[in-house]
Order: sequence, then C-alpha cells, then structure tokens
Amino acid sequence: MYGLINHGIERFVTDKFGASDWRDVCMRAGITDTKFEGMLTYPDDVTYALIGTICEKYDFAPADALETFGSYWLGYCQTTIVGKLLKFGGEEFADILYSLNAMHARIKLSMPHLRPPHFEFEENPDGSYQLHYSSEREGLEHLVIGLVRGLAEQTKTRIDIQQDPEPAYPGIRASFTLRII
Ligand code: HEM
Repeated sequence: MYGLINHGIERFVTDKFGASDWRDVCMRAGITDTKFEGMLTYPDDVTYALIGTICEKYDFAPADALETFGSYWLGYCQTTIVGKLLKFGGEEFADILYSLNAMHARIKLSMPHLRPPHFEFEENPDGSYQLHYSSEREGLEHLVIGLVRGLAEQTKTRIDIQQDPEPAYPGIRASFTLRII
C-alpha cells in the first residue's frame, strides 16, 4: 500500500503516545526505516505488521484499533495534497459514499499503483443504507467502519454503522447497514 497509510499510522502513534513510542513500534515490527514516503508503495505486510504491533503493545483489540485508526486517517488525509484535491467540504455524506469508487479512481490518477477497494452503496426502502465492500485484502472490514465514521465527522453527520452478520452476496468481503440519525 502507499506510504500515505503507514505515514498516517506514524502520525497516529506519535500524536497519541509520542515519537519514542513510534520508534519502539517500528523496532518491534522489525522495520528498520521509521520514515515512510507518502507517494511510494510498500508491501502490505508492513502495514499489517505495524497494526499488529500496535495492538500488542497497547493491548488494543484489532477491530477497535482499525476503527480508531480509520477515523483518524480520514482526518489526516484531508491535510495531505491528495486529500485536499478531493475537498469533501460542500458535499453531502451520502453523496460521497455513492462516489467512493469514482473518488478512488481520481486518486489513482496521481497514485498509479493504487489497488483500491470497491464499494456498492444503496438506499433501503426504510431509509437506511447498505454499503457493500470488496477488496483483494483481508481483515480490513473495521477500517471501513472507521473511515465511514471519520467521513461522517468531517461532514458533520450523525450516523450508526454496523457490519451485517454475512456479506449480502458472494464474492464480497462485507456488507454494512448504515443509518443517518
Ligand atoms: C481523502 C480521502 C481518501 C483518500 C486520499 C484515500 C486513499 C486511499 C489510499 C491511498 C489507499 C491505499 C490503497 C493502496 O495503496 O493500494 C486507500 C485504501 C482504502 N480506502 Fe481510501 N481514501 C480516502 C477515503 C476513503 C473513504 C471515505 C473510504 C470509506 C470507506 C475509503 C476506504 C478505503 C479502504 C477500506 C482502503 C483499504 C484498502 C482495501 O480495502 O483494499 N477510503 N485509500
């Protein structure tokens, strides 16, 4: 994945626990270079190792860590050049969710090695929404929850999001039910 993710993890650890903790996380994860370049790609294993080490070090449940990091990362992205180009400001929360694939396609123009997730977003007859998530990567369902919550925060929208017990159809990683409250 792009270093933008790993750099976000660095910011997260440094903001919450300090720079020496970040060096310790990298050492425990077996990573010698503690600086990540946002526009370079790194093996996915590096990202998974960082998240796993953070969970061990701070005794976080992986689901909680991914949700918390997802929300944080979305805010952090807004401060980067790529994020600024996307300008969430004037758009409605639901409209952004309808355009997640188009948004990642736009990002891919400046980050050609992007291997983005894929989403389907639809409104249910009762006014709630379903978000269907596919990805070549495993185990990031709770990151989706965190990112969606981060997006809700950025667009000043109150929401409830729950992962459905099963994906709605075969071949996707997960489905989520989402309510604007
Ligand atoms: C400023 C906004 C955003 C930017 C700049 C951004 C950019 C990126 C980048 C760089 C990656 C790494 C993929 C790679 O390196 O191959 C990624 C992955 C991902 N993005 Fe976005 N994204 C944004 C918003 C969102 C939002 C709102 C969601 C909502 C669900 C989302 C869902 C994901 C997920 C789940 C992944 C993990 C990769 C995977 O599942 O395979 N992103 N995004």
